[in-house]
Amino acid sequence: MSIRVHIDGRICLPEDAKVSVFDRGFLYGDSVYETIATVHGRLFAAGEHLDRLERSAQRLGLRLPPRAEIEGAIAQTITAAGNAESRVRVVVTRGAGLFDLDPASADDPRLVIIVQPRGGPTPEMYANGVSVEIVSVTRNLPGAIDPAVKSGNYLNNVLALGEARRRSGAYEAILCAANGSVAEGSSSNVFALIAGQLRTPALQVGILAGVTRDKVLRLARGLSIPCDEVAFLGPDELRGADEIFLTSAVRGILPVTTVNGAQVGHGKPGPITRRLTDAYRALAHETT
Ligand SMILES: Cc1ncc(COP(=O)(O)O)c(C=O)c1O
Repeated sequence: MSIRVHIDGRICLPEDAKVSVFDRGFLYGDSVYETIATVHGRLFAAGEHLDRLERSAQRLGLRLPPRAEIEGAIAQTITAAGNAESRVRVVVTRGAGLFDLDPASADDPRLVIIVQPRGGPTPEMYANGVSVEIVSVTRNLPGAIDPAVKSGNYLNNVLALGEARRRSGAYEAILCAANGSVAEGSSSNVFALIAGQLRTPALQVGILAGVTRDKVLRLARGLSIPCDEVAFLGPDELRGADEIFLTSAVRGILPVTTVNGAQVGHGKPGPITRRLTDAYRALAHETT
């Protein structure tokens, strides 16, 4: 079990991985990133994640290294780390510059790949579900730092998770959009089964277009599970849902059995969550 970092064109140990204090990723969160997981030792949905990295970079006007270079660096770092399953973080910053906010003042992007053991939820968390807390910190407005952009500026999400942990020790924070609709978790998308229909906030609510979210929606449609991307999901609707789960690359589908201290449904992962979890695991095994 080891961690390896690819930085400035070479692979090194974590203690040797250093960035300049003048790097704009450090100074301003002026960077984009992705987290990709392996299944059976092979990257899952890497194409979709790197597509999103490109979309995020484009929105920020940040130049990325060529895709083949990023893919090569990821492959080398996974091999060097030698873990059975990996969590891969791909970061590209706008590079180092003088103290000038103008993004045009830097154009030397820095690629960093961090590979570590995949980790993630324990089997007990999948079996029993986790707790979430709907927090007061709101998701950024799309007109500010658009939540659709996976940038290194994650302070909003950091504060949301901090609030959830302080309040009740909840595993994940659920953020609402400025209009009061449930938006997403601090590092996950959220689904709820309400009146027999699987609902998840639509992209227009102001969320990250999760790669796992998209796969789950396709699976649900394939299994003829009624589902809808809704323009508004009230916190009370979420609290009253029969089933809730979170999605993200590292977690896959993770059941939620407590919201703000109250039990969800029967307090155990529900049948729709279990069905989708089986389908998602089968998909991940087939495609890696
Ligand atoms: C804010 C946010 N929403 C959703 C997700 C889930 O996205 P994905 O399924 O692509 O991992 C993440 C992942 O890190 C995230 O940071």
